[in-house]
Amino acid sequence: VSLKALNTFAIDALAEHFLIIDHTANFEVLLPQIQSFEERLILGGGSNVLFVSDFSGLIIFPQFFGVEIISQTDVSVEIAVGASENWHRLVEMTVQNDWFGLENLALIPGTVGAAPVQNIGAYGVEVKQVITSVEGIDLESGLPMRMETIDCNFGYRDSLFKQHPGRYLISKVCLRLSKQPNLCLSYPPLKNHFQGQVNIQPLEVMQKVCQIRSAKLPDPGQLANAGSFFKNPIVSLQCYAQLLEQFDDIVAYPVEGGMKLAAGWLIEKAGLKGVRSGNVGVHAHQALVIVNYAADNGFEVWRMAEMIKQKVEQIFGVKLEPEVSIIGEVSNL
Ligand code: EPU
Repeated sequence: VSLKALNTFAIDALAEHFLIIDHTANFEVLLPQIQSFEERLILGGGSNVLFVSDFSGLIIFPQFFGVEIISQTDVSVEIAVGASENWHRLVEMTVQNDWFGLENLALIPGTVGAAPVQNIGAYGVEVKQVITSVEGIDLESGLPMRMETIDCNFGYRDSLFKQHPGRYLISKVCLRLSKQPNLCLSYPPLKNHFQGQVNIQPLEVMQKVCQIRSAKLPDPGQLANAGSFFKNPIVSLQCYAQLLEQFDDIVAYPVEGGMKLAAGWLIEKAGLKGVRSGNVGVHAHQALVIVNYAADNGFEVWRMAEMIKQKVEQIFGVKLEPEVSIIGEVSNL
């Protein structure tokens, strides 16, 4: 199976074993087969993966759909959403109901099931804030899995599911949204835009977020990419102070245990914003995004990422870590 249409980097990698799983799946039969593969990849929207080679393990492609209200009160509503539903469509549906919670997370590519894996976040909100539980099956024990928020080990672009790739097949995500005003407008462009306004509806925030994102981030349907390629690195206060001496305009935010640096700033300052090498490049409006103009081979994207990493480390002494999951083996090293 070619994976080209199944990853937003549009890499033409091949999958040797491909399994579609939906609600009719008979795990008694399937589990031994699934477990016989040491390497497994559960693929959602493919918007956060880079295939650097063909994949010889098993690709599991879940197909779980549906949105239902589990419970509601005057102040909140809890919904259960099938893992294969499109994330942005869910955001649209919730804001159309005037529910608060997902408006800042508009236009993030991918599926609902991938949201907890990455603990997707944008404009001051992370999905962990609204997730109540994640359900599915533990492919190692074969038992049904139901993780409460606290069990999910959520961190910055991180979770239990990401820490154990191929182990937990997520079929359903439960979210609690608010019916009462509960907005996060701390991100400067949102703050400036809505300053002084009252009665702001989630729909308006969603529209503004879409506008901000579309101006900076390439639409994977038009230019292949996987969003931020690297995480924003967290450094100690001491390291930050040293950097600040040399680079007084460095962009950073205080976080627990240090400072989070804007990796986009580091890459731009390293002179790499908008550069192109062969079929791949650094996006002209957001240096944290690697774009694929025409490469079929993920190795080219990987090489560009390595070049960025080396240059940033040389200049700032800071190691960038990929945010995108790198799948497969890099050969010829
Ligand atoms: N910046 C530059 N040059 C650039 C890009 C950024 O100087 O080319 C500086 C600017 O000062 C800017 C700051 O970095 O104000 C932050 O940039 P931006 O708001 O675009 O956000 P980011 O830190 O680069 C993170 C997330 C995004 C998320 C945005 C908005 C990560 C790895 N990325 O990016 O998430 O949409 O914040 O909240 O945390 C993703 O995960 O794929 C993703 C797109």
